[in-house]
Amino acid sequence: MSTLRLALVLTLAAPAAWAAPKTIALPDETAAFRPGPGMDVAEANCRACHSTDYVNTQPPKKGAAFWDAEVQKMVKVFGAPISAEDAKAITDYLAATY
Ligand code: HEC
Repeated sequence: MSTLRLALVLTLAAPAAWAAPKTIALPDETAAFRPGPGMDVAEANCRACHSTDYVNTQPPKKGAAFWDAEVQKMVKVFGAPISAEDAKAITDYLAATY
């Protein structure tokens, strides 16, 4: 086989290799909410935009006023679609658990 023909065969064969399906294995999510009453409501409403690390990395024992302000900020400033009822449940959960 001439060098030219070999080069032609390689050029034509290459795209088939590029089209082969690729799989990507992502690492497991390691951040999680701490267990406690109301955790399910936080799970359902507070993981849409960012991980639980945003909550987990806040200073401990900040209390209800701090967490109420955080939840209201997510709703009013960042547009999180959370009902007043769920917001209250999440605030109670965060104040009691963090
Ligand atoms: C609509 C998207 C969205 C949802 C839903 C959301 N957040 Fe956020 N959150 C943000 C954005 C945007 C930031 C700011 C990120 C930055 O500053 O880089 C943020 C930041 C935070 C922070 C870091 C401190 C701060 O004030 O910036 C905390 C704590 C937090 N979110 C808690 C929550 C909790 C609790 C919930 C559920 C009630 C929630 N988030 C749901 C968008 C969201």
